[in-house]
Amino acid sequence: MRVDGELRVPGDKSISHRALLISALGEGPARIRGILDSADVRATARVLRSLGVAVPELSDDFVLVGVGHDGLQEPTVALDCGNSGTTARLVAGLVAASGFDALFEGDASLSRRPMRRIAEPLARMGASITFHGEQETLPMTVHGAVLGDVEWESETASAQVKSALLLAGLISGREVIVREPVRSRDHTERMLAARGAEVWVNEQAVMLLPGARIAQLDVDVPGDPSSAAFFAALAALADEGELRLPDVSVNLTRVGFYLTLKGMGADVASSNERQVGGEPVADLVVRPSRLVGIDLPPEQVPSMIDELPLLACVAARAEGETVIRGAGELRVKESDRIAAVVANLRAIGVEAEEHSDGMRVVGGRGPLHGFVETHGDHRLAMAFGVLAQLPGSEIAIDDRDCVAVSYPAFWSDVERLISR
Ligand code: S3P
Repeated sequence: MRVDGELRVPGDKSISHRALLISALGEGPARIRGILDSADVRATARVLRSLGVAVPELSDDFVLVGVGHDGLQEPTVALDCGNSGTTARLVAGLVAASGFDALFEGDASLSRRPMRRIAEPLARMGASITFHGEQETLPMTVHGAVLGDVEWESETASAQVKSALLLAGLISGREVIVREPVRSRDHTERMLAARGAEVWVNEQAVMLLPGARIAQLDVDVPGDPSSAAFFAALAALADEGELRLPDVSVNLTRVGFYLTLKGMGADVASSNERQVGGEPVADLVVRPSRLVGIDLPPEQVPSMIDELPLLACVAARAEGETVIRGAGELRVKESDRIAAVVANLRAIGVEAEEHSDGMRVVGGRGPLHGFVETHGDHRLAMAFGVLAQLPGSEIAIDDRDCVAVSYPAFWSDVERLISR
């Protein structure tokens, strides 16, 4: 199998959500270029429209007119967050500080995901959240209030929790300090700082100073390293070829997968590093090589949390064992990504074992045959989609269309770059 050519992957999902949310809170027009047009980002656009922001239909280059820090309107409908945890959690922070109530809903997967992690700190600031079922999950109503300062120690590294609090602090003019065990992706603090808010960061904590105001700024969304990762894996596992991936975000809080792949022996080169809108971006080149298993250091997990299903799939074709630990968060993603990845690896003939906070995968060269159940989880579809391309694989995937959550053109991009 040959993987060859050039692919500019779609815009980064995390930055795309924040481009909409933060531009909505600025005053006047912001030009947004290269946004990801996928189901998750559409959910954020839809929810903002329900909050009175005139978000145009998403396209590669459009203008969003912000309503300012206190311009959001009380919604007359439930906020439908679809499959998107980022939408639900970040917008909960906005509503908490906006002084009105809003009902949040999501699909079956999102309605299983924990919301206590934002409810607790937002309550500490003065807002309250009512859960409408037996669990602390959606549907929930966020009751906005006049908020106070908060200093919060997050149990897990979560950019969604951190961002919900920072956005609540921005709207209410309060001081916010968030500490995390390991630093999570830092796009919110970068965007706020680029717009003039005073944000201090170090390895352990981020602090938004009180009275922060943001100026409006245009956004150029870099390519998504989490989407590019599938193609980097494909090129590393190929027999021949050379894949170029231009304009990929190489933000240090996001590049764990590439460092790990290199640690497994992959040939990954990066060049032309530059800053685009306050984010580091580079052009990557990946060539085939022999891979060996790895014992992943737990502190590496946050910077590749969304790539762990893919790492497990790559590990299935590496020499020796791969062990992932300290990744209990995987159980509360779009699916239980520990149980689902291990069950699917076994279903296609790979030796794998589930641990409470990770997994062990034994690499090999045997044929990969079987049926993969994605549970509607886009990253599972794409990770096993990579293995499905390898010579001799006969892997059927139950729901190929769920890639629309983050990468609608995934399958056609795969077809374009592979020759068999
Ligand atoms: C995201 C944060 C991560 C990540 C998710 C996107 C974000 O979730 O898994 O895909 O945009 O803030 P957590 O904050 O729950 O780790």
